[in-house]
Amino acid sequence: MVVEHGAAIVVASNRGPVSYTGREARRGGGGLVSGLSAIGPEAGALWVCAALGEDDREAARRSPSRLPEADTGGQAVRMLDIPPETFGAAYNDIANSVLWFVHHQLYQTPLEPVFDAEFRRKWAAYEAYNAAFAEAIAEEAAEGAAVVVQDYHLCLVPGLLRARRPDLRIGHFSHTPWAPPDYFRILPDDIAEQLLEGILGADRAAFLTERWAEAFARCCEERFGDTRGTWLGVHGLGADADFLRERSHRPDVAERMAALREEIGPDRKTVVRVDRTELSKNIVRGLRAYEALLRDHPEHRERVVHVAFAYPSRQDLAVYRDYTAEVERVAEEINSAYGTPDWRPVVLHVKDDFARSLAAYRLADVALVNPIRDGMNLVAKEIPVVSDDGCALVLSREAGAYAELGEDAIGVNPYDVEQTARALHEGLVMEPDERAERTKRLAAAATALPPAAWFMAQLEALREGPGKSDLTDETPD
Ligand code: G6P
Repeated sequence: MVVEHGAAIVVASNRGPVSYTGREARRGGGGLVSGLSAIGPEAGALWVCAALGEDDREAARRSPSRLPEADTGGQAVRMLDIPPETFGAAYNDIANSVLWFVHHQLYQTPLEPVFDAEFRRKWAAYEAYNAAFAEAIAEEAAEGAAVVVQDYHLCLVPGLLRARRPDLRIGHFSHTPWAPPDYFRILPDDIAEQLLEGILGADRAAFLTERWAEAFARCCEERFGDTRGTWLGVHGLGADADFLRERSHRPDVAERMAALREEIGPDRKTVVRVDRTELSKNIVRGLRAYEALLRDHPEHRERVVHVAFAYPSRQDLAVYRDYTAEVERVAEEINSAYGTPDWRPVVLHVKDDFARSLAAYRLADVALVNPIRDGMNLVAKEIPVVSDDGCALVLSREAGAYAELGEDAIGVNPYDVEQTARALHEGLVMEPDERAERTKRLAAAATALPPAAWFMAQLEALREGPGKSDLTDETPD
């Protein structure tokens, strides 16, 4: 099949750049949106994504070929109307409950996972959902087009697409960690192979940091001996300094800062965290570490506030709803144990508010980023960029960002709450000069590859073929 007037560049991801509430389109943020806008409308790029909810589905039905440009800010977007049962099983039950759990090592293995007949039915839905993407891209891509497929939702797309359109240049990019081989072996053998073969259908598979690329390579070697000619690359997505600095100095952020200062109280320091309420973000152990800090260092009592923003995520899954409730319960427990009439030790907000997140970034004395495991973690990169007076960064060594920021952060083992408590103390007592110096270096490292450059790097590497920045089977240790 050759498409004469097709798109020269295709991006495919589960979550697209817009989603609908009623008939109103809301544009999302994130690296891909700003990355894609860098190449401009004349590049002939198309974004293929899934309808996530009923309002999206109706929009996709109204405009099956392209969403109205007025809704997308001019971006060509094809939103796929995948039947809700197929989408739900693929997204909730496979992508978020199995693949996300494997790559982030989240299972409590004595009882889970269980790969039974029900799992096989859900897996068939994941295959159908991936096939719907492959079909749409095959229809839309111009001859020889570059296709960049994003993330764990779409692992089978490269292989399915290669079979339909061998002329295309296909890349796959993982935004998550990749499981080490021993953990990856949790998956049934045929499923593990299908996932790897799916990605190996791409010319190039790329990751956020070398550690994840190497884990993927080791999984492939164990099953197939090598990566079957697919070359591997690394692009560490960075923060968008220009956008963040401008956005964080608008009046709505100043208003939120004033309100937060009011809540915190005068002359108190802050330990700030901002996350989706995500199992991998380790919010509960973060609270426990803060509690240990108050226990071991009475001098901080009434002098510090833990500002924790935990925004709802994946609430269709019971385990996420339970985790959200646990975060609220533990925060309340600390407040009852240590709070005084005019000091609330933990200020927890669960309603998503980007301007308020930026306000917290600006005033943070210590940033707590302690995920169990994380592909990158952009919050760790954004805070140093936006911070007004410098901020000490307590950072999990299991976050992809640690490879780039580790030297100037205070590194922690995310499971070790006592060590994390000591790190919080170290951050709170760090000399202002040292804090400012470290923050400057952190901000420089954090912005080395802003979203537009990150996106272009993926495209260029795909067009040019294996280069010296790529990891190949021959790469010496
Ligand atoms: C991670 C994934 C993204 C995903 C995001 C939000 O960063 O790598 O692919 O879009 O989480 O999760 P959600 O399930 O809400 O899209």
